[in-house]
Amino acid sequence: MTGARGVATNRGADGSPGATGGVTTATTTSTADPDTAALESDLRDGFFGDPPTVPPRWFYDEKGSLLFDQITRLAEYYPTRAEAEILRARAADIVGDADTMVELGAGTCEKTRVLLDVFAGRGSAGGSPAEAASPAADPHAGADTHTAAAGPLFVPVDISTEMLFGSARALTAEYPGLRVVPVVGDLTALEGPLPGEPGGRLVLFLGGTIGNFTDAQRTDFLAMLRGLTDPGDRVALGFDLVKSPERLVAAYDDADGVTAEFNLNMLDVIARTVECAGLDRVDFRHEAVWNAGESRIEMWLRAIRDVRIHFPTLGRSRTLSAGEGIRTEIARKFEPDALVAELAGHGYVGPTVWTDDAGDFGLVLVVVD
Ligand code: AVJ
Repeated sequence: MTGARGVATNRGADGSPGATGGVTTATTTSTADPDTAALESDLRDGFFGDPPTVPPRWFYDEKGSLLFDQITRLAEYYPTRAEAEILRARAADIVGDADTMVELGAGTCEKTRVLLDVFAGRGSAGGSPAEAASPAADPHAGADTHTAAAGPLFVPVDISTEMLFGSARALTAEYPGLRVVPVVGDLTALEGPLPGEPGGRLVLFLGGTIGNFTDAQRTDFLAMLRGLTDPGDRVALGFDLVKSPERLVAAYDDADGVTAEFNLNMLDVIARTVECAGLDRVDFRHEAVWNAGESRIEMWLRAIRDVRIHFPTLGRSRTLSAGEGIRTEIARKFEPDALVAELAGHGYVGPTVWTDDAGDFGLVLVVVD
């Protein structure tokens, strides 16, 4: 378990989780709560701009995580099911002969289990047939190896400590042959080296979360990841595909209002995390719009009357007129060829692209050059 992980707090200035600029230090903050300092920093970066933005990270308090879980089961929200279909069908191809799996934004690790079922067999007596057939499966991992640390290594990385450690504990119990080393960190600000042998790593970034980056942030992210990996390492990215605006909007504005509640909950998270006045969910409504020019869904919190929001610890206020909004998330939808070309430009080659049978969602597997 080599040194992984930076836990830095620089984040993008425009409503996505990505970091483009340098680290923003919350110099005027006296609080000891890291969430408060991080949110204050994000508000300084985005809330006073045009449009005001808050990064999607702030959706995910305990309630928000439960709401997201509910979203993944909605009839309208196809990405989770479509990606699960791909992972089930292609697990052996995706896992390949990896000796280390790093999952960025692992969350509950729920969708990863189908891969872990294949991966965790590696090096243990009960390895799956797919494993046994893999020539590179055991150079380090004999049953009687002298290092207790040998065997498949799973490194889930997430910003949410509780969820991460909870799932790490569960996985350790469930997969006896698996070493699980959770890393708490902002996936846009990781520091190397990644655990695992160069060339033996598989980095997973699933769910379509790569769509939450702006183009510039995605460029930074892919460059950062390239710097953390070595030739022969592989990267699997889940990405949502362009489709009819009606279906895209419905996926982010469901009939039951779960996504609306998920979006509005961010206001409660903000109001609870930093000192503020005038930020009240009854003054806002959820909105999901398709921005065709940018090929992305945007989630907004639209003011339904004039509001004035004051943050005493920031020494700043912001007024919104009725109809003005706060952008809380972008979710970029891709054409596979363009994404593959973009990856090649960053030194990720040998692409394999899979989609679900309906052609709604994609997964691309590339090799670090
Ligand atoms: C978890 C970021 C992939 O963008 O589709 C779902 C989050 N937001 N509904 C997405 C989300 C609203 C989701 N990701």
